[in-house]
Amino acid sequence: MNDVFLNGEFIKADQAKVSVFDRGFLLGDGVYEVIPVYAGHCFRLEGHLKRLQHSLDGVRMRNPLSDSQWQTMIEQLVERNGAGDQSVYLQVTRGVAPRDHVFPENVEPTAFAMSNPLHAVPADYKSKGIAAITVPDIRWQNCHIKAITLLPNSLLKQQAQDAGAQEALLIRDGYMTEGSASNAYAIIDGKIYTAPKDEKVLPGITRELVLELAASANIPVKEQAVSEQQLRDADEIWVSSSTKEVLPVTMLDGVAVSSGNPGAIWKQLDSLYQQYKQQGD
Ligand SMILES: Cc1ncc(COP(=O)(O)O)c(C=O)c1O
Repeated sequence: MNDVFLNGEFIKADQAKVSVFDRGFLLGDGVYEVIPVYAGHCFRLEGHLKRLQHSLDGVRMRNPLSDSQWQTMIEQLVERNGAGDQSVYLQVTRGVAPRDHVFPENVEPTAFAMSNPLHAVPADYKSKGIAAITVPDIRWQNCHIKAITLLPNSLLKQQAQDAGAQEALLIRDGYMTEGSASNAYAIIDGKIYTAPKDEKVLPGITRELVLELAASANIPVKEQAVSEQQLRDADEIWVSSSTKEVLPVTMLDGVAVSSGNPGAIWKQLDSLYQQYKQQGD
């Protein structure tokens, strides 16, 4: 049984209890982070803690821990759970209070963290690519906040799964925003297109690294959303996230993307990504 962290303490996962009056439970009033850990070391932790603060600021919630307290706690949690490759999940909710839409006063936020083994993505996701479907982006207007209210994302991902696909690519006003649990890219004439960082997409930590690696290899990047038609005509399509890294999408709505195989630019980017991971950070 793994240890989890809850409000200042490490306890066994099955001993961790949260009140039914927690606003995370009743109102979905919370934010979260997912951080990959390789060989016991957190990957791009600074970026994740910065984004956590951004999400907390976005919902006017107090950060219960300083960055160094988060770091120490996460390192201890990873160590307690056997180091190696893990995925750390952090969640902060506005705390426990009588149910009311209005924020409670003088209430301590609930701070929770768990870590689980990080399994490598199935090998054929990389050798053959994954399938995606396009769906309307039914989410709210503040997708830059990593909120725990994931019902739209969950419905959309389930729709992909029901269609035999691994991801849903979201279309808002005729343009692709991102995936249901990933950032998304279209490669057109040798250039990487991805939606700009605004309220319509989550500022992905992996997205940031993809853009850094592309710059280092002189692959041109345009932070510009592609239309649904441009997406269908793209030479390559990719998705990225902390736990899945960068994956090629080779089938879109049942139709092969270009040749139907992972593309040359994805291969180049993935090999840069793997090199970067080896060096640690
Ligand atoms: C909606 C959405 N966009 C993008 C991402 C990718 O973000 P990151 O690379 O920080 O994991 C995620 C990750 O889960 C996500 O849920």
